Amino acid sequence: MYVCNCNAIRERQVHQAIACGASTPKAIFAHAGCQAQCAKCVCEMREMIDEAQAALKMAAE
Ligand code: FES
Repeated sequence: MYVCNCNAIRERQVHQAIACGASTPKAIFAHAGCQAQCAKCVCEMREMIDEAQAALKMAAE
């Protein structure tokens, strides 16, 4: 499933970018070697980052 249709960034690629330390949508675009275009996917990327950080926080407790 694509998170970003403009750049063909898949959900799996977003998870990989987050696992590699991306903490902003800009960093996810950089990881994929592209830039935001319409930016419609930014909210979903932020939600994925927040979920990953919440899961890490819970795992650390
Ligand atoms: S859907 Fe990601 S920049 Fe347009």
